[in-house]
Amino acid sequence: MGDVVHYLAAVAWPYANGPRHIGHVSGFGIPSDVFCRYMRMAGHEVLMVSGTDEHGTPILVEAEKEGLTPRELADRYNQLIAEDLVALGLSYDLFTRTTTRSHYAVAQELFRTVHRNGYMIEQTTRGAISPSSGRTLPDRYVEGTCPLCGYDAARGDQCDGCGNQLDAIDLINPRSRVNGEVPKFVETEHFFLDLPALSDALGEWLKSRKDWRPNVLKFSLNLLDDVRPRAMTRDIDWGIPVPLPGWEDNPSKRLYVWFDAVVGYLSASIEWARRFGDTPDAWKRWWSADAEARSYYFMGKDNITFHSQIWPAELLGYNGEGTKGGAPGEFGRLALPTEVVSSEYLTMEGKKFSSSRRVVIYVRDFLSRYDADALRYFVAVAGPETSDTDFTWAEFVRRNNDELVAGWGNLVNRSVSMAAKHFGMVPPQGELTAADRELLTTAADAFVSVGRLIEHHRVKAAITQAMRVVADANRYLSDQAPWKLTDDLARMGTVLHVALQVVSDCNTLLTPFLPHSAQKIHELLGGVGVHAPMPRLEAVSDLDDGRSYPIITGDYAVGARWQTVPIETGRELKAPAPVFRKLDPQIIDEELARLAT
Ligand code: MF3
Ligand code: ZN
Repeated sequence: MGDVVHYLAAVAWPYANGPRHIGHVSGFGIPSDVFCRYMRMAGHEVLMVSGTDEHGTPILVEAEKEGLTPRELADRYNQLIAEDLVALGLSYDLFTRTTTRSHYAVAQELFRTVHRNGYMIEQTTRGAISPSSGRTLPDRYVEGTCPLCGYDAARGDQCDGCGNQLDAIDLINPRSRVNGEVPKFVETEHFFLDLPALSDALGEWLKSRKDWRPNVLKFSLNLLDDVRPRAMTRDIDWGIPVPLPGWEDNPSKRLYVWFDAVVGYLSASIEWARRFGDTPDAWKRWWSADAEARSYYFMGKDNITFHSQIWPAELLGYNGEGTKGGAPGEFGRLALPTEVVSSEYLTMEGKKFSSSRRVVIYVRDFLSRYDADALRYFVAVAGPETSDTDFTWAEFVRRNNDELVAGWGNLVNRSVSMAAKHFGMVPPQGELTAADRELLTTAADAFVSVGRLIEHHRVKAAITQAMRVVADANRYLSDQAPWKLTDDLARMGTVLHVALQVVSDCNTLLTPFLPHSAQKIHELLGGVGVHAPMPRLEAVSDLDDGRSYPIITGDYAVGARWQTVPIETGRELKAPAPVFRKLDPQIIDEELARLAT
């Protein structure tokens, strides 16, 4: 194995304004967990951080709808989302939230330093207010025609037609999405991130990126064609105070939610070090101390702009690396992303997920009826890795039954039960035939090929490759037909020993994708201890103000390594219970009926 590398997995922060559906977790959750689990198994130092995104208009609007304060709303969904992510087995080192004191302090330090370096410029602009209520109308609640591409339902913050960021004032025929009225634009002061002063540095960084998914890199480079200063403060009363004299105490000016959310990757790393690191500076190994450290940012494609332009620009401004120069603040020079790993969209039975139109299945409801690994399998093998992909219940059932149950589950089941029945243990291995050796080699070689695919975020190809070994092993068993070898128990034992070895290898190869079943299969094979470590929910108090909240963390240093481990002859084996559940095709209609109501 090569040198130990520090890998930061920066996973997109879900808004705490409602439960998350399977489209969300297929974008950021499962791909990042596969990557982290694999990297830990391969012996690397992984820091996987995220949390709930709790500021901004998405939270305010939903709070109003539910008759709660923004804080109450955020508390409710932070808890619920954290529970769902744990149930999926996502192995965060720290999943926290953006309403902690520690996050406020880090976001303010970023803002202050970017400002001091000259990259946060104050400008008078015109913001929308609702003529009927007199209240400010946040950009995303203004709708109109995109000035760049002509799409007629662009929002004031971003156009879903062309993906560009917008300002509400630039929309053609603006109207309120709340009540359709034409907003009034009034003068207001804001701080703008000086992207033009950072764009050379951004371009240089982007051009030095290797191996990004072509769509993501192309989209990111295109953003550089139209760089303008972007407002990083808002007229809103829910968010982080603007840390400058004259602004700090103004209750109606706050940092823009996206300014603070992306800082979460850094603040969560710092919080992790304060809670769990061997020193409070331990986070620096992923951010500055180790020049070889790598950082991967996982998200759905609607987040690309913020991760390949706004966040790197904040970092460059913090480091003092734009045309205006400057010097880093108290955290020192911070590393820019190695790669923005963005997936495309998952659709649901041919339609866009929509909570309001009930084209949705929430993670919680899914897991109340199906196993976490069944979802993880589907997303890994058929998820929206490089193109939009449709989730259909029929395809979910087919993949579950034909591949997971009839392929992998069947291999495990027949190997273990035959060995249990005829030997009660892992039988000894006699002389090997060419067929035996070929299968063992195929399995051992897969550690290299599957590992390399995961390293390059090719989750689909990786799991397909692992499942190919499963298919080879099933074919081997059919060819060797050990059940017919009752008068040659020595040969039967050898075939079953080989089969069990390959089951053990396949189980290790599938562990990053299917950790829950991997633990069970490890035990079926007579293994003890933790094979696939699981995250846990823990109530902690805020490090700075004592308020308590749930976090996700875990002890992931234990568990299987990414290598073949010789299966021990003589280990006791019992008749196995099935690991995967076959689904009745009837559930397809039941689930479709739920969608329709
Ligand atoms: N809350 C945003 C969304 O759901 C994602 C924020 S990612 C962050 O689209 F890192 F910037 F927080
Ligand atoms: Zn557009």
